[in-house]
Amino acid sequence: MVGYAFMGAAHSQAWRTVNRVYDLPARVRMAAICGRDPEKVADAADRLGWESAMTDWRELIARDDIDLVDVCTPGDSHAEITLAALAAGKHVLCEKPLANTVAEARAMTAAAAVAQAAGVRSMCGFNYRRVPAVTMMQQLVADGRLGTIRHVRAVYLQDWIVDPQFPLVWRLQKDKAGSGALGDIGAHIIDLTQFVTGQRIAGVSAVTETFVKERPLTAGSTGLAAGGPTGDTEVATGPVTVDDAAVFVARLDGGAVATYEASRFATGRKNALRVEVNGSLGTLVFDLERLNELEYYDATRPAAEQGFSRILVTEGDHPYMSAWWPPGHLIGYEHSFTHQMRDLVEAIALGVDPAPSFADALQVQLVLEAVERSARLGSSWAEVEPALASVAV
Ligand SMILES: NC(=O)c1ccc[n+]([C@@H]2O[C@H](COP(=O)([O-])OP(=O)(O)OC[C@H]3O[C@@H](n4cnc5c(N)ncnc54)[C@H](O)[C@@H]3O)[C@@H](O)[C@H]2O)c1
Repeated sequence: MVGYAFMGAAHSQAWRTVNRVYDLPARVRMAAICGRDPEKVADAADRLGWESAMTDWRELIARDDIDLVDVCTPGDSHAEITLAALAAGKHVLCEKPLANTVAEARAMTAAAAVAQAAGVRSMCGFNYRRVPAVTMMQQLVADGRLGTIRHVRAVYLQDWIVDPQFPLVWRLQKDKAGSGALGDIGAHIIDLTQFVTGQRIAGVSAVTETFVKERPLTAGSTGLAAGGPTGDTEVATGPVTVDDAAVFVARLDGGAVATYEASRFATGRKNALRVEVNGSLGTLVFDLERLNELEYYDATRPAAEQGFSRILVTEGDHPYMSAWWPPGHLIGYEHSFTHQMRDLVEAIALGVDPAPSFADALQVQLVLEAVERSARLGSSWAEVEPALASVAV
């Protein structure tokens, strides 16, 4: 694993757990974790359960006893690490968004296709697909239970940078993060809605906004949390180079119309992801704050009995749930990562390709690019090309 902070911890928990919960055709050995600071990475290895700690990801990739590389760093290093790992014949799990640009995502997708021919597997970490209620939502839509999909309504809202004094962490810098709320949380709802509906976003009209344009610089600030103050009396500031919020309408290639909102300025909303799909035969609603539930309106029932029902997705025959607790005993955020590792380990052991593939993630990247293009051009319509048509292998 490369990177040991937020996603490093979430993935480590999943790697530690996956063989203890699921009966899998292969066993995971947590061989090495890599970070740039020797003391901190040694501490992380100890705390998170890795056998060894390293400070150079190139040395990690060169090790013969490592079969898979899990990329948990910010977007500016995804392409470089992933391309090197694939070239060395290692399977790769790369966090989302796949890259900082479409060009990088294309190169990674092409490299994954070449590696695949040699039995090397790649997967992008859109973990929300593996919340059992979301997986079930996808299955119900695929089974035709909603009929023809007309509307998709998706929001992903946070509020951790409402304070203008919140420092200029890497997520607010384009060269490190690629984009702001758009690529960080918007990417999740783009992937999730394309997954659930089986339809591709074909075009968008967007607005993006950066509400706070300068922020204090701090030493060692990372990710979603601030580091300590720099100690200067006059606090230096730097420019915010990404969007704080992105809002767009979209057409899906199966005929549905959709709205998307991704913001870090939705005061009071901590991690509020909600997706609603309306079809000719019914509606399904998923809300991450109630992630064990799925709301279902079945319009095929007699009129007098119609109404939203709440399905508690904790039965043994619900997706992923057979290995957990008796019905009604709830699971949480971290379980989606364990499910992700289960599917990846199984795919590698069985010699099949896991999903979401890099091509799926490139499709998301193409939407991110189209949203930025549309916003730049005063919300004019921006077409999104199909991912596979855009990759030369
Ligand atoms: N799937 C999800 O729900 C989810 C949630 C949060 C973040 N993410 C994604 O995970 C990735 C990491 O985000 P995070 O929140 O864990 O960030 P973070 O700041 O908490 O952690 C990043 C880690 O990468 C390390 N790092 C940075 N550059 C490095 C390099 N060149 N070599 C080695 N280590 C390096 C840092 O030291 C740190 O340990 C991003 O791509 C982000 O978009 C996904």
